Amino acid sequence: MSVVEVTDLKKSFGRKVVLNGISFTVEKGEVFGFLGPNGAGKTTTMRILLGLLHAGSGSARVMGADLGVDDAVRGRVGVLLENNGIYDRLSAYENLSYYAQLYGVENPGDRISELLQFAGLTERKDDPAGTFSTGMKRKLGIARAILHDPEIVFLDEPSSGLDPEAQHMVRDLILRLSGREGITIFLNSHNLDEVQRVCNRVAILNQGEIKALDSVSSLTAGAGMTVFGVTLSDKAQAGAAQRVLEGIAGVSDLQVQGDHISMKIPHNGAPEVLFTLTGAGISLEEAKKQSRSLEEIYLDVMKKAEASS
Ligand SMILES: Nc1ncnc2c1ncn2[C@@H]1O[C@H](COP(=O)(O)OP(=O)(O)O)[C@@H](O)[C@H]1O
Ligand SMILES: [Mg+2]
Repeated sequence: MSVVEVTDLKKSFGRKVVLNGISFTVEKGEVFGFLGPNGAGKTTTMRILLGLLHAGSGSARVMGADLGVDDAVRGRVGVLLENNGIYDRLSAYENLSYYAQLYGVENPGDRISELLQFAGLTERKDDPAGTFSTGMKRKLGIARAILHDPEIVFLDEPSSGLDPEAQHMVRDLILRLSGREGITIFLNSHNLDEVQRVCNRVAILNQGEIKALDSVSSLTAGAGMTVFGVTLSDKAQAGAAQRVLEGIAGVSDLQVQGDHISMKIPHNGAPEVLFTLTGAGISLEEAKKQSRSLEEIYLDVMKKAEASS
């Protein structure tokens, strides 16, 4: 059974269609990245999964349960929403202690010490959370979300509003969290770099529709295609090289920048490209496969979505 199972989920607010029939699953142990621009419907999807919002139609199940109807599973779920769920007037320790009571955590003292350590907040444990930086509050929020040792953790934009250093700390925390045996992480984000580093699989959501759904490694490799780049020994040959490349079947997306040409080629297409270029008298300084960043993929997907709408 999938940990998360969303089937033809639709949701409208008034006349505005926010989710237009999305389907996907998340498996146990995955770090799933739910990507999309502001307003794409990421938070709405998460709120429906958590039972905080009714689905319009279709279904959204977590560990087999509809959390809006059936709350037996809720104790196995951890959540970090935008506001961190942290009380400013309570210390870090008191915040965690309060939630430990709420969740009925056994040996709360040990668990809280462990989590303060995990979040790097041990030295500040007695300071009011209101005196913390945004990054520290976010880390305390993550500690709070996993206090009861949930099987799945939902994180809504955990690095938004943080400076680069704090983003790095939060990312590191998520990476360490993902190393915990069997835990599943559902991460809403528009931070592509973060998603590329921490997630195994991603869905790209745009205007309430899923535009891509795949493992990060196959997305960045490109379906059946490789990004290939050559550097010419002589920049003056760029025009000639471009004409030769345009004549090779399967080569696409040529981009010439000075003495460098990048292109998409079929997997295993590199020998033919090199052979044809050198056969035409073009001499090369360097040739190599390039992997695409998730950012490029994302922008590609968005461009195609725009073109077709
Ligand atoms: N309670 C609500 N009432 C009306 N519109 C809403 C409500 N919540 C979200 N929306 C709208 O739904 C769309 C998707 O929002 P959201 O799920 O928050 O996007 P994301 O999290 O991807 O930025 C937005 O256009 C937003 O304005
Ligand atoms: Mg959101």
